[in-house]
Amino acid sequence: MRILLIGSGGREHALAWKLSQSPLVEEIHAAPGNGGTAQTPKTRNVPIAAGQVKELIAYALEQKLDFVVPGPELPLVNGVGDACARAGLPCFGPDAYCAQLEGSKVFSKEIMAESGVPTASSAIFASYEQAAAYVKAKDGPVVIKADGLASGKGVIIAASAAEALKGLSDLMLEKTLGAAAGRVLLEETLQGEEISLLAFCDGERAVPLPSAQDHKRVFDNDKGPNTGGMGAYSPTRLLPAEKLAEICELTITPILRTMKAHGHPFKGVLYAGLMYTPHGVKVLEYNVRFGDPECQPLLMRLAPDCDLMEIMLACVRGGLDGASIAYRPENALCVVMSAKDYPGSYPRGLPVSGLEEAERAFPERLKVFHAGTALKDGRTVSNGGRVLGVTALGKNLREAQATAYAAMKMISMPDSHYRLDIGNKGLNRD
Ligand code: AMP
Ligand code: GLY
Repeated sequence: MRILLIGSGGREHALAWKLSQSPLVEEIHAAPGNGGTAQTPKTRNVPIAAGQVKELIAYALEQKLDFVVPGPELPLVNGVGDACARAGLPCFGPDAYCAQLEGSKVFSKEIMAESGVPTASSAIFASYEQAAAYVKAKDGPVVIKADGLASGKGVIIAASAAEALKGLSDLMLEKTLGAAAGRVLLEETLQGEEISLLAFCDGERAVPLPSAQDHKRVFDNDKGPNTGGMGAYSPTRLLPAEKLAEICELTITPILRTMKAHGHPFKGVLYAGLMYTPHGVKVLEYNVRFGDPECQPLLMRLAPDCDLMEIMLACVRGGLDGASIAYRPENALCVVMSAKDYPGSYPRGLPVSGLEEAERAFPERLKVFHAGTALKDGRTVSNGGRVLGVTALGKNLREAQATAYAAMKMISMPDSHYRLDIGNKGLNRD
């Protein structure tokens, strides 16, 4: 296969790394890719941005590529799945209708209700006045969600009605997120621990990957602003292998049934963001792609002889029940190194060193996935907020954590930042 891999993050480097190991894969064209994909076997970077669907498809056709793997949500929401179908290109990802599960919080909530999936109770508003009246009547904590894609900035956890009114005014009157907040969802505030459950989907069946836990806040102990994710590990205590089928049946399979009934079978990876509340598991959100950084530890755990290309083909063609999917028994943990001021504004072009030394120090147990990096005169420099995802395997979580942090000490970049407590939530249950 000759693949177009769309995206430029740690997730895409991990996808290129695993796909390049498949005997079925001849070439990977990463658009736009990063410093890590540029150094991956069989892989080259192509300077087309991830959201430019027309250009991506034109490139794939011109190069006679024969399989498309969109990493991030933007191309999926922009209709890359539909454009691939029109061009006769198989695509490991859903069409734009299904991608609304991530692209529209209102759509997602309606599909959850129709499918009978447990979730926070909520109300939808298209006007500031009505939303404000609802908030005043409730007079307590509430979660505000802008309907559209907002790069992680569309959710406000308001502790009081006053905070909620300020948030609503920013979103709906000041329009700080533009059209993304044309409608808002006001949602009950849930308490609990968050877990990511991802599943391979072939339109009918869902095969869950092992569970993972992300760390969304920028600082230790979940303090500071939300980010794309500062680290992740797999598996989690709350969702061990023996419970995966049950939780998948509760939170993912009903969505596949609904999407198929709507004439849009979901193919690719469906990701449920779950909250383990005192009243059971509830779905916070769906993503229509691999999580980043969850993808990095999850793909590290995919068994060495397990072919990701074969799994993706089974998802696209149907017949996922016949695919052989196996995971290493080890735990995996990924620590993200970011630029110091991420998720605010930060400089690019800073030199990153020690990557090869770190991998050499822990053979077979450590992989440094690049995220926001580029190669400049053959050297790695930073090119984004999240720069690296240093990912380790260990016979238990403690060992994976120790290896990842030992490797972190060997890597340096001026003005970098990383959390020191990735995985602690899993350990604290010992
Ligand atoms: P979402 O984009 O819906 O996943 O929301 C981003 C983050 O906001 C989640 O990862 C949670 O930490 C938090 N969040 C979302 N919905 C709720 C809710 N109903 N109650 C409490 N926290 C929430
Ligand atoms: N790690 C969270 C996400 O990919 O959305």
